[in-house]
Amino acid sequence: MEKLNVAVVGATGAVGREMVSILEERDFPFADLKLLATERSAGTVINCKGEEYVVEVTTPESFEDVDIALFSAGGTASKKLAPEAVKRGAIVIDNSSAFRMDGEVPLVVPEVNPADISKHNGIIANPNCSTIQMVAALKPIYDQVGIKRIVVSTYQAVSGTGKDAMDELQEQTRAILAGDEVKAEVYPKQITFNALPHIDVFFDDGYTKEELKMVNETKKIMGDEEIKITATAVRIPVLIGHAESVNIETNAQLTVEEAKKALDNFSGVRVVDNPTELVYPVQLDTEETDDVLVGRIRKDDTIENGLNLWVVANNLRKGAALNTIQIAEKLI
Ligand code: A2P
Repeated sequence: MEKLNVAVVGATGAVGREMVSILEERDFPFADLKLLATERSAGTVINCKGEEYVVEVTTPESFEDVDIALFSAGGTASKKLAPEAVKRGAIVIDNSSAFRMDGEVPLVVPEVNPADISKHNGIIANPNCSTIQMVAALKPIYDQVGIKRIVVSTYQAVSGTGKDAMDELQEQTRAILAGDEVKAEVYPKQITFNALPHIDVFFDDGYTKEELKMVNETKKIMGDEEIKITATAVRIPVLIGHAESVNIETNAQLTVEEAKKALDNFSGVRVVDNPTELVYPVQLDTEETDDVLVGRIRKDDTIENGLNLWVVANNLRKGAALNTIQIAEKLI
């Protein structure tokens, strides 16, 4: 396989560091690796495949000779720098929300809509973390019986906000246990020992941007504008791993056993469901697996064709860095 020059923009961030680890774990065939961030962390040394790489400041010229640029530096950086990378011949896989709903930009979960990758014009978008794990779990059910309506509530880890939020959760926990003053800087309220029904900004209709992302991105990835979706996104004091309670109404009946079989046969998804033996997926499980874990699969008897699922995945890996690199693998 031809070796490619790869750049990671945001290499010192929570997702960027996972990207570098995953390039190593999966022995991604890169010839050269450029690790990019801002002045704040330029000079930081990061290891990958036994080599030391020094983080550089990102400039438009950083993308000369880059074949694939993996971006996870926030929407503002992506809007400014992704076109510069494309102009210089790179293909950008972007983890921010900057281009996700752009009609020219494919939005891809490789297990769900791999064919969309080939439609790119230089930029491919990686979906929002909570959307990725939900569509991965729903696709095998959708393929069997179709889905009319989705009601989802999320329980999301602070690492989705980034490294600073992970530090804030740990520092607040330390301060509370030590009896010190508690400071909330990343989140508007204390996150430790709390749950915030607030992820990203609020719109006039009362929903948050995170909730809207789940609605719009799910329709785009599934290629179905007719699915009705309503979401409530909640931040909880967990470091890594998002969980979701997902209630669906299907077009035709699917028994719990049929749903389990379809889920287990789907690449990247694993059923973890035997409650009487205390077997159900939890966020800490995602430190050891890249699968999307699905448990608590139950019939919802309040409607004709209803199912309830509990969906858990590692938001930094399948929800971000891993999905991005899986797109890059499909691309080459
Ligand atoms: P830096 O470490 O220099 O601030 P997180 O999501 O965990 O907060 O990480 C964000 C990542 O994106 C960091 O690596 C950060 O670099 C990087 N970053 C933020 N803004 C830019 C930018 N304008 N250009 C390049 N990298 C950026």
